[in-house]
Amino acid sequence: MNIQKVGIVGAGTMGSGIAQVAATAGCSVTLFDVNSDQLVTAQDSLERILARLVEKNRIDNEERDRILGNIAFKELGDAEVHAERSRGTKAESELSSCDLIIEAIVENLEVKKKVFQNLEKIVNDDCVIATNTSSLSVTSIAASLEKPERCIGIHFFNPAPLMKLVEVVPAVQTNTEITEGIVETIKSWGKTVAVAKDTPGFIVNRVARPFYSESLRMLEEGMADVPTIDKLVRQMGFRMGPFELTDFIGHDVNYAVTESVFAAFYYDPRYKPSLTQKRLVEAGWLGKKRGKGFYTYQDGKKQELD
Ligand code: NAI
Repeated sequence: MNIQKVGIVGAGTMGSGIAQVAATAGCSVTLFDVNSDQLVTAQDSLERILARLVEKNRIDNEERDRILGNIAFKELGDAEVHAERSRGTKAESELSSCDLIIEAIVENLEVKKKVFQNLEKIVNDDCVIATNTSSLSVTSIAASLEKPERCIGIHFFNPAPLMKLVEVVPAVQTNTEITEGIVETIKSWGKTVAVAKDTPGFIVNRVARPFYSESLRMLEEGMADVPTIDKLVRQMGFRMGPFELTDFIGHDVNYAVTESVFAAFYYDPRYKPSLTQKRLVEAGWLGKKRGKGFYTYQDGKKQELD
């Protein structure tokens, strides 16, 4: 498999991180989003991150320019995402030349299926269409395609440029050669790959569910407050406590993953979502990306709670 041109659909937290990884590895990357403001945010954030790497002498100016030069930003109009094929638009021609597309949009099965169906009308016959879903059935997403054998899960962790591990999740329908090719490609991007079965939450997110849910339960039972639980868990050697981590992930994303794992395990109470987290989502207090979650953030920096 020779992946030169990569399209990433969804320029949020994960999409922009994955773009950085692929561009650093030398791929020509186009980041697509339906929200043009998000594309501006993604570009600003990538420029800031790369400038910081230059300051820290991890890369030089030439390398920064090379990586940025490998990334293009394109708004997806209704034509490409929601409606019927309309040949010739700019984003569409960018999509049709991709060897690999990685979808990193909202964690919602129906929305992802619709986007996959529409992508398949545009991309070339050999293009691999992958999802970065954390918890949804890759098999179910694949089933929305006319060629489901080209679909696979490529699950990066947050932040994608720093986290070494990537879970590659073949759907039941995925062609074995595509799995092998994607494993080699992601390894060539400097990552460690674990091939995981297509089960709810795969490996890491399944193991991580009780980390979040038990902490939320303790909070709801009044056993300890947010900073105390976070501090103690950090003292145990974790890099972040559960509330810092879910603020970082985004409560909309983390809650959607919990809901999806809960439903996928036939409503086993072990995976029951938390009302406390649901309220954060309803309030729009999604965590670091919105400046407020369990903690508040100023210029991306966490403010200590009293
Ligand atoms: P995010 O909310 O930061 O970004 C999602 C982006 O998708 C937004 O910019 C939004 O405008 C765009 N979008 C929504 N619908 C679209 C459409 N139809 N076409 C094109 N763009 C569209 O979300 P985040 O955190 O980047 O998550 C994306 C995916 O990655 C989800 O499936 C999530 O479960 C998964 N994931 C998230 C992780 C995390 O820690 N946040 C970790 C690993 C996977």
